[in-house]
Amino acid sequence: MSDERDTHESHVDPFSGQSVSGHVAPLRLSRKAQLAAEPAVTRLIELALGQEDLISFAPGLVDEETLPDADTELACRAVLGNKELARRALQYGTTSGLPGLRRALAAYLTELDARAGVSHEFDPDRIVVGTGSQQLLYLLTQVLVDPGDIVITSAPDYFVYMATLEGAGATMWGVPLDEHGIVPQALEQLFRQLDHEGVLERVRLVYNVSYFHNPTGVTLSLKRRRELLEIVRRWSRKHRILIVEDAAYRELADEPEELPPSLAGLDETDSFVALCQTFSKPYAPGLKCGYAYLPEDLVEAVVCEKTNHDFGSPNLIQHVMLELMERGAYARQVERLRKHYAAKRSILLRALAEARRKLNLPFRWTEPRGGLYVWIVLPEGIRTDSESALFRTAIKHGVLYVPGEYCFLGIRMLNPNTPLGNASNTIRFAYGHCPLDRIEEGVQRFARALADVAP
Ligand SMILES: Cc1ncc(COP(=O)(O)O)c(C=O)c1O
Repeated sequence: MSDERDTHESHVDPFSGQSVSGHVAPLRLSRKAQLAAEPAVTRLIELALGQEDLISFAPGLVDEETLPDADTELACRAVLGNKELARRALQYGTTSGLPGLRRALAAYLTELDARAGVSHEFDPDRIVVGTGSQQLLYLLTQVLVDPGDIVITSAPDYFVYMATLEGAGATMWGVPLDEHGIVPQALEQLFRQLDHEGVLERVRLVYNVSYFHNPTGVTLSLKRRRELLEIVRRWSRKHRILIVEDAAYRELADEPEELPPSLAGLDETDSFVALCQTFSKPYAPGLKCGYAYLPEDLVEAVVCEKTNHDFGSPNLIQHVMLELMERGAYARQVERLRKHYAAKRSILLRALAEARRKLNLPFRWTEPRGGLYVWIVLPEGIRTDSESALFRTAIKHGVLYVPGEYCFLGIRMLNPNTPLGNASNTIRFAYGHCPLDRIEEGVQRFARALADVAP
């Protein structure tokens, strides 16, 4: 907030070198900018940076130990060492993305679903490459959601996208999750309720992180995928409600052969799902390269919006990513990460079990088979929010977590209690960034904090 003092500043005149003071009127931000508040989680990251020896399970970052510098260097050299290719890569590209990369991605998505037993031919012309999948989520929201429209999410959900929705003026309604993903009966009940209130027309999107959900780690089962598609199709009476399938963690599976096919692959009409994926988690977030497979009648709108936004994501990065796919370096990195994160999670889960045994406190957690997150549900009565005794004590003991409340922010619910807890008794533990040899100590510190505050 600016006050009187901020608006009466002293400046040096560049010509006379004299000090001048004058009234500087405040900027007037757009309504959109006012809606786009700083995510609450930023405070947590500041906290993490400000305390020495803090073990942080807060940020959703990947493990620096595993970042593929050598392979990326080779791929950069291959692109830049070839004069003709280098010139193409250093020129502007197309808004929808490098054609060769889009062809490779279409073949890749087709192969992932084929491994899950579904034959679905992904069309390269329906793929748009963006600056991370976050950009594609943003663009999809821009082209489909007007202020006051309704977006159905899960509760809890990925708070960065919730902030994007908030910024777009969307009303968010959350559907509870259990260990198999969102609960179809609850989704059905929500649609009935919205229809009853006469606002079905305003429902535009159903957002679903379908593999190793952020923040809970759960994967939507095959049965639930079919049910979700059926429910959304049935309630798409006057307009098509789009499912945005966010598959950011799809590749980070302990056992890839156990994974269900994508919602996009299961959709026989090939028109209800926009599938967003990324190279951030399975390769390197610093390249900030993601992609979406879109229904045919949505491609033009997204590409036009993207043209207004950036008229094309970094072309050089796309050439490098294609090179990495073609030389098998991408697949090798995925393989490496799968094993690495599985090992980290198993240390985390073992340490949690040990802590529960010692504390003799009935708390529980999800047991994902991939991804970067474990979701902890504490007994009713132990609050986890950023003002709670547990949160403060945990920091005092040198460990940081994401309070569950952040993952419910702004989401309306028919019932605030879910099979995976509620906004006041839950925690997200992210084990991506924390070094492997600090995980056990981190959980022990958390257990000491719990012991201090447990009744
Ligand atoms: C569920 C989910 N979707 C999308 C993203 C965005 O990733 P990026 O924009 O780096 O592709 C993230 C990042 O943490 C995420 O957790």
